[in-house]
Parts: sequence; C-alpha cells; structure tokens
Amino acid sequence: MNEPVRIAPSILAADFACLGAEVRAMTDAGADAIHVDVMDGHFVPNITIGPDVVRALRDHSDLPLDVHLMIAPVDSFVAAFAEAGADIITVHAEAGPHLNRTLQVVKSCGKLAGVSLNPGTPTQVLEPVIEDIDLILVMSVNPGFGGQSFLMSQIEKLRVLRGVIDRSGRAIDLEVDGGINFDTAPAVIDAGATMLVAGTAAFAGGAGSYADNIRRLRGDVRG
Ligand code: DX5
Ligand code: ZN
Repeated sequence: MNEPVRIAPSILAADFACLGAEVRAMTDAGADAIHVDVMDGHFVPNITIGPDVVRALRDHSDLPLDVHLMIAPVDSFVAAFAEAGADIITVHAEAGPHLNRTLQVVKSCGKLAGVSLNPGTPTQVLEPVIEDIDLILVMSVNPGFGGQSFLMSQIEKLRVLRGVIDRSGRAIDLEVDGGINFDTAPAVIDAGATMLVAGTAAFAGGAGSYADNIRRLRGDVRG
C-alpha cells in the first residue's frame, strides 16, 4: 500500500434535515468521497433515499459521489442514479441473477462500477467479473442500518480479495463498509482495504469534529 487510505463518510449518519450542509462540511473536512446508501425496503429491511437526493447533493460537493445501491431489482434504476450525478455505482452481487448484465448497464452509463458482497457471500462470485469492475465493496455488517458492530469474519475476506485484485493487475479499489471506527480501521487497512466507509464514526461529534474524525480513521495520528 503506497497510497494513503481514503475515507468515504456515509451520509446515513448525517443530519437528514440539512444534508447539503453536512456534505459541504465533510468535503471541507477532507473526506475523499461521499458515500450514499440507497435502500429499498426489499433487498434490505430499511428505506432511505433515491436519485433526487443524489441530484440535490451533487451541487454541494466536488467529491466523487459513491452510490451504494442496496436495491433489487437494480438494473432499471442505474441510469437514474447516473444521470443524477453518481460517480461510482456499486451494486450487490446478491441483487439479481445477472451480475454481468448489471455491470454492463453501469458501464454503459459511463460510471465506475462497483460490486458489493454481503457478509455471507463468498469471494468466488467476483472472479468471472473481475475484468469488468473498478471497485469491490466488502460489507462488514449485514446491510440495512448504520451503527452496527463490525464482523471480524470479513477481515479474511478482505485479505483474499486483496490477493485477487493484486493478481488481476487491475486498479480495483477495495472498499469496506459497516462498523468502521477508530478501533476497527487499522485492521481493515492492514488487510488491504483502500477505501473506508464510515457513518457513525465519521459524523460523531458534529461538524467541528469531522476533520479530526477523518484523520483518525486514516490512521493519521498527527491530527
Ligand atoms: C449499511 C450501510 C453503511 C452504513 C455504515 O447498510 O451500507 O454505509 O451507513 O454505517 P456505520 O459506519 O455506522 O456502520
Ligand atoms: Zn454503504
């Protein structure tokens, strides 16, 4: 790992009554991307936001919008999120029977394509699509809610995927999402993650704490 790990705060933990200001504050605080959790009450047992909110947030930050689609079916909604201003569109391998087709849909929209794996999904499902993806998102909680505890079982999955990515020779980001805080971040960085999603830990303490939270998540103790 030569490059410093990047931090993508999840707006799921932001104050939804003033999302634009929250995204601006995180941008000013040094975040590397803004992680947007989209849930449909079907693929996961919670409902959050849709493309209109992504479009509204687009004007509040120049950072990449990292859109995590926890929805099924997904193909028919990809274009709407792309047009709304998403930069990275991550779909779940478990969201449908045609992962390759779904990735083609993302690519046809000109966006970076990510694939996420639930904690119980094996890494092998990614091997046939490794040439088609820009990002792998390892869920370190069962998706649906912020504030859950990190699943240690996913450390080994990160290590395996680090090897898969390195052997592929492709510049694929290895992102991890769920229960990432100052205690768990060092372990996932050590396992080869290049991008950490953090909701609760990133937004803790209000806007005055965001820069410090980001530095500490990166492991930059000088802050
Ligand atoms: C869970 C979401 C996560 C979540 C992370 O389904 O994908 O992005 O917001 O929240 P924390 O960091 O609080 O676990
Ligand atoms: Zn997420």
